[in-house]
Parts: sequence; structure tokens; C-alpha cells
Amino acid sequence: MARMVGTPGQAFRVRRDVTTAMALAQRLQQVRHHTLELIAPLESEDLCLQGMADASPPKWHLGHTTWFFETFVLKPALAAGQITGFEPAPEAWSYLFNSYYDAVGARHPRPERGLLSRPPIAAVLAWRQRVDAALQQLLSRPDACGPSAEQLSLLELGLQHEQQHQELLLMDLLDGFSRNPLEPVYDAAPEARFASAWRQPSAGSGHEPRWLSHPGGLVEIGHPGAAAGFHFDNEAPRHRVWLEPFAIAERLVSNGDFAAFIADGGYRRPELWMSEGWAAVQQRGWQAPRYWRGSDAFSLAGRQQRDGEAPVRHLSWFEADAYARWAGARLPSEAEWELLADQLPQAFGVLWQWTASPYRPYPGFAPAAGAVGEYNGKFMSSQMVLRGSCHLTPAGHERRTYRNFYGPACRWMASGVRLARDSQQQASP
Ligand SMILES: [Fe+2]
Repeated sequence: MARMVGTPGQAFRVRRDVTTAMALAQRLQQVRHHTLELIAPLESEDLCLQGMADASPPKWHLGHTTWFFETFVLKPALAAGQITGFEPAPEAWSYLFNSYYDAVGARHPRPERGLLSRPPIAAVLAWRQRVDAALQQLLSRPDACGPSAEQLSLLELGLQHEQQHQELLLMDLLDGFSRNPLEPVYDAAPEARFASAWRQPSAGSGHEPRWLSHPGGLVEIGHPGAAAGFHFDNEAPRHRVWLEPFAIAERLVSNGDFAAFIADGGYRRPELWMSEGWAAVQQRGWQAPRYWRGSDAFSLAGRQQRDGEAPVRHLSWFEADAYARWAGARLPSEAEWELLADQLPQAFGVLWQWTASPYRPYPGFAPAAGAVGEYNGKFMSSQMVLRGSCHLTPAGHERRTYRNFYGPACRWMASGVRLARDSQQQASP
């Protein structure tokens, strides 16, 4: 399952000036260092762990994010004489660490990334250092031969891309660890972030959710453009959408709520499910969210007792949709979610929230020219949009217009459910 991320495309261009270059140099150092912090709790054997075809080993994430900078920023800079002394990785590494860019060439099969015991982690880490040094060299060049606006934009994209892979690394690791009978503990920090993020006093957990109403009408969604900061191409252009009157729940669906669905035969009642979802329940033997284990749940902090008031997580779109139907509600459209996101508790930093919206281009969408145009646009079929961000998302990476997307049967990402419903108020003309 490809999940990934967007390119700034034609819509986003970084300003070409010294301040921008200096800010990028500083963020480059921070973001790249954070990836190394994420693997610090791991044993060397963990670095090759791939629990399933959709997931990738930590070492692969480290190599792939580095490949992205080398391929799209450094090799062109080297050819243009902007940097000196940089030695790219052996050509065969491009085959290993290309994810899905057809324009760049053939690649190693995704389900077999866990077989790559070589190159060893020391060689990958040394490559990361060489790439970081070369990027800093490029950013520190005087203006005349320094990075172009396009190169700065690609560098920004590389940073955003690495942040996406920081989250992927953790969710892939959770999948891998969940398959080990020893129930390994990664680290307590992600669970601590989850707990502090969902326990917002305004969320009213443990009670009937409060509903926030909107009269509907003609509204605008989508990113307003480069002046408002970075965005992936799939968030633009901003455009108008007509909404009927609706209400959206102020808190996410909890473990306790979802346990009531299960107790009411939720996984045994075909009338609650989309046909494809019901087939998935049968074929995959789903009886509960992905990491539930009796009255416990498995997380990056290992196995722990489940908190009934905490938001339920690791649900597929099919499960979210069936739950909503059982609850006499529905999932919000992404336009409804975006419109009220700033007023909603638990919108960011807790769990990605499934929407009723299929992942399709906004009206007027145009992917970027060249290989990075493959970043987002080619995945706009057979997937559903999730909004918000989760406790595994790096700080500062979330955005009200951010469109995440996965296939409707996927449930290894930190996904949750927020309900919506139609309301009777009149839309304003
Ligand atoms: Fe990627």
C-alpha cells in the first residue's frame, strides 16, 4: 500500500534569499537529527524488521529519506558544479532505496525490504552524514552559485518528506513489534504524548459527545497558497464546496464507545457494513481494533491495560464507517472537518481521523513537473482521506488543510473516528 505525501508542485515556491537558506540549514540539522533520535531505543536487529509488505524496516526509512535528498537535490547540484567533493552512494543503492518513482528507475520489491541486511547500518549512517554535509555546503554557498529557488523548494520538500517517514517508521515498527510474542517495548514517549494530547479538558471524554453545528452553505477549503507556508500539492487549489447543514462531534470515539459496538454484535452484523468491508471482516477475521488484546492493548510502550475513555485507534475506514452507522451517525466529509477543525478538541496530535471523502484531486489540481510529480497525484484512487495529525506525527508537521490517505482496509496507522451527522438547520443561500 503506497502512502505518501505530496510535493509543493507549481503551487509552492520557497523564496530565494539568505534568510531562507539559513532557516533551511537549521531545520535540516534538526529534522535529520530527530530521525536518529527515533532509532536510538532500537537494537541492531530491529533495524531490519519488516512485519508486512505495507511496512518498511527502520534502516530502509533512513536510507530512503537520504536517497530523496541525494537524487532530487544533490546529484543535480553536483552536475551543475554547485558543490564539490561529494561522493554519491553506489548506483545500486538507488535501486534499493527508491520507493515508487518510476521516472527515476527500477526498484527493489517493497515486500522484500526486510531482506536487505546489507548495506549495514553503519554504511547507511555514514551516507546520511555525507549527504547532510553536502546539503549544508550547498546552502552555505554565496548567492550567485548558491541554491536556486527550485532547489530550496526541493530541500523543503525533502524535510517534509523525512518528517512523514518519521511517523511511518514508528507505525511500521509498531506493526513489526506487535508480531513478536515477547511484546517488545520501544519507548514510553509516544504513549505519553498520546495521553496528554487526548486528555484535553474541553473534549468531555467519557460522556456523550457534544456536537458542534454548522448551517452549511457555500464554503471554501484547501490551502490558500505559498504565502501561508508550505503545503503539499494535494492540499491545493483552494476551492468552493457546498455543504448541507451538519453537526460534528467534539470528541473522538472512545475505546468504551467502540466496546459497546462490539458487544452489540458490530462485527457480526452485515447490515452495518459496506460490502467490501464485510468481506474484509470475514477474510481477515476482524473482531476488534488492530492492537486490542483482551482487555489490554499493544502500543509502542508494550502491552498495557486499555483505557476506556481514550480514543479508539487503529481502525480501518470500514470499521469507522460501520461504527458510525451503528451509532446513527456518519463520518464527516473532509470539507466539514476542515471548516471546523480550529474549534474541535482532539483535532491534532491525537489520531488521524477518517473522513467520508475519497482521495481525489481538488478541482484545478496539477501535479508538479518532473519526477517529484509522482509524489501524490498518482495515488488518487481507491483510498480515503484522513484529517488532523496523530501522536506519532512530528511536532510542527500538522496543518488544517493536510490530506493524509490510506486504503479503506488499512489499520496500522494511528487512525481514529470522529462522528458527524446531518442537521435540520437551513443552509444560508
Ligand atoms: Fe518516501
